[in-house]
Amino acid sequence: MAPIIVTGASGSMGKVAARQLAQEGVPVILACRNLERGRKVMDEILACVPDAQLELLLLDLESEAGVRSFVQALQGRPLAGIFNNAGTMCRRFSLAADGREKTMTVNFFMPALLTRLLLPQFEPGARIVNMVSLSLKYSTLRLEELSPSEKDFGQIRTYGKSKLALLYWTIALAEHYPQFRVNVSDPGIVDSKMIRMDRWFDPLTDIFFRPFTNSPQKGVRPALAALRAEDSLRYYVGKRSPKIAAKYLRSPLVEQLWDLV
Ligand SMILES: NC(=O)c1ccc[n+]([C@@H]2O[C@H](COP(=O)([O-])OP(=O)(O)OC[C@H]3O[C@@H](n4cnc5c(N)ncnc54)[C@H](OP(=O)(O)O)[C@@H]3O)[C@@H](O)[C@H]2O)c1
Repeated sequence: MAPIIVTGASGSMGKVAARQLAQEGVPVILACRNLERGRKVMDEILACVPDAQLELLLLDLESEAGVRSFVQALQGRPLAGIFNNAGTMCRRFSLAADGREKTMTVNFFMPALLTRLLLPQFEPGARIVNMVSLSLKYSTLRLEELSPSEKDFGQIRTYGKSKLALLYWTIALAEHYPQFRVNVSDPGIVDSKMIRMDRWFDPLTDIFFRPFTNSPQKGVRPALAALRAEDSLRYYVGKRSPKIAAKYLRSPLVEQLWDLV
């Protein structure tokens, strides 16, 4: 059986997804930027699923070189799918290796490039699931906002735009490659290190807000359902999977972003 790649497998939801797939007998490639953290997760999964078929590979989404060397390591191997789970929400403006803003690079440009480079290796019917976020519903996007300047950057604003860009690009992918099952998943708000804002109010949110967030186990359920999908262009959230809203499907950004990556 061909493997499924889980990016960010060292993170909260990535780890749960990798373990669940392994329990179902699916071979999993754990794609991690830090091999030490990845190895720990691999050992944890093997401790509860001793016959799990796992592979650990380095994937750094902060640079095109990092993506290309990951793809190189997998060259020629058939793949059953990818869960583009890795993501970040930089607090401050910073540039990634290729000179683009970092949140946009890690959340949109590099997952899109990674997926595009792997397309020839996906088996017919392969599942491609891109992790988006509720925040995209409160976001708007113009092409020039894909490379925000320091003045235009905002931690949550840029994060929301990066996930909206990923949604548009996912739509284009589904339309150009009907032989694959291409969907997005939204975990709600999940208790992970990502929602730690590194601000003075963190202890207050721990008391008043964290108890109402989803666990990583619950947050990743829509993605696991999307990894079993039989069709494309659905927005997996909670227990539902409605078609992606027409306002996104009809946007000119769908083709514009496709041409860009
Ligand atoms: N938490 C939420 O409320 C929430 C809500 C909506 C959507 N999401 C999305 O869900 C996904 C998983 O997030 P999470 O909540 O599970 O957070 P998390 O625990 O912080 O996991 C994020 C994962 O992404 C990896 N990552 C970050 N930057 C990377 C890079 N440059 N290259 C490769 N991997 C990188 C991290 O690696 P390290 O382990 O090395 O740090 C980690 O494995 C993300 O796409 C996030 O945007 C989260």
